[in-house]
Amino acid sequence: MTTPLKNDRFLRALRREPVDCTPVWLMRQAGRYLPEYRATRAKAGSFLAMAKNPEIACEVTLQPLRRFELDAAILFSDILTVPDAMGLGLYFAEGEGPKFERPVSSAADVARLGVPDMETDLGYVMDAVRVIRRELDGKVPLIGFSGSPWTLACYMVQGGGSKDFAKIKAMALNEPATLHKLLEVTTDAVIAYLAAQRHAGAQALQVFDTWGGVLSPAMYREFSLRYMQRIAAELDRGQGAERTPLILFGKGTGQYVAELAATGTDGVGVDWTISLDQAARAAGGRVALQGNLDPTTLYGSPEAIEREVARTLDSYRDGNGGSREGHIFNLGHGMSPDMNPEHVGVLVDAVHRHSAR
Ligand code: CP3
Repeated sequence: MTTPLKNDRFLRALRREPVDCTPVWLMRQAGRYLPEYRATRAKAGSFLAMAKNPEIACEVTLQPLRRFELDAAILFSDILTVPDAMGLGLYFAEGEGPKFERPVSSAADVARLGVPDMETDLGYVMDAVRVIRRELDGKVPLIGFSGSPWTLACYMVQGGGSKDFAKIKAMALNEPATLHKLLEVTTDAVIAYLAAQRHAGAQALQVFDTWGGVLSPAMYREFSLRYMQRIAAELDRGQGAERTPLILFGKGTGQYVAELAATGTDGVGVDWTISLDQAARAAGGRVALQGNLDPTTLYGSPEAIEREVARTLDSYRDGNGGSREGHIFNLGHGMSPDMNPEHVGVLVDAVHRHSAR
């Protein structure tokens, strides 16, 4: 089980230790932009069928690592597995994204929710973590993940994706106690979910606060940040070399880097709407920073990609007192299905080459 890691750049960077070059992985690095993913998906039938089968989840987790010199693997699953296990009935309507059969709209709905059992209700996720760890055989570390309580609550209350988040914002305004109860039980579930992934073998953990940036600052602090503070404070991540680092990623939350860094997390992930030198100054060396190339850069030419990669790396260094340590290169958000796999190779190699110490 404890095969020594052949490539520990990502974990070293999270501890702000020296590395030979800046590590890189990409949010949504497994997905429809890869022909081999589309072939596996066609055989399995659907995204959920893939995620619920540990061998298939393992196969698609490994696909991008066979093509590119990525420094970490991320569990192939979804953030919405948790509300699904809480009884909301997750399904994907063709072309419409994720939806719930039984959304949460009242205090009575919230009162019915409980923390799912991680080894029965979410056993397929823990099995996937164990299979992937075995198959990775120490090649690179495996990242487990969860949605943030606020982001999960958005889907639970809206019943799916949303443009204006009208239902959950109305709940925040009119029934804040109900929303806080929902966020409390969801936070309990997230903490248990991340701890279970850690025990199953995940070597780092990331929380995706995809919708934190749709809130006003006062509401962000009350309904999102507060619950991520609870996660950072209460999640047992172990000690010393065995410590499993935590990354808090938010979209549109670059203005809160200092507050996120103060939660006790190990890393903070930012999108491309803040420059990394500014983010690094706000982090003040307390945490590692992850990000933040605009994902649409992958639609540019190889030359444009190289130029933007160099700019991003140098921006971090400039804000971090002239040092590249403590940076994990990533996109500012996930990849899209129409991106060119060859451009991903250009990006990954450019990160390693331009940051070589
Ligand atoms: O990064 C990775 O490679 C790991 C896998 C991963 C997926 N979803 C796979 C997936 C991760 C980390 C997620 C997280 C996730 N899921 C988030 C947070 C991160 C983010 O992107 O902001 C959110 C908001 C979701 C909810 C969700 N699941 C959406 C909006 C969609 C897209 C629906 C669509 O029609 O494209 C999904 C489905 C999903 N999750 C896909 C993948 C690869 C697409 C599935 C497919 O059609 O094959």
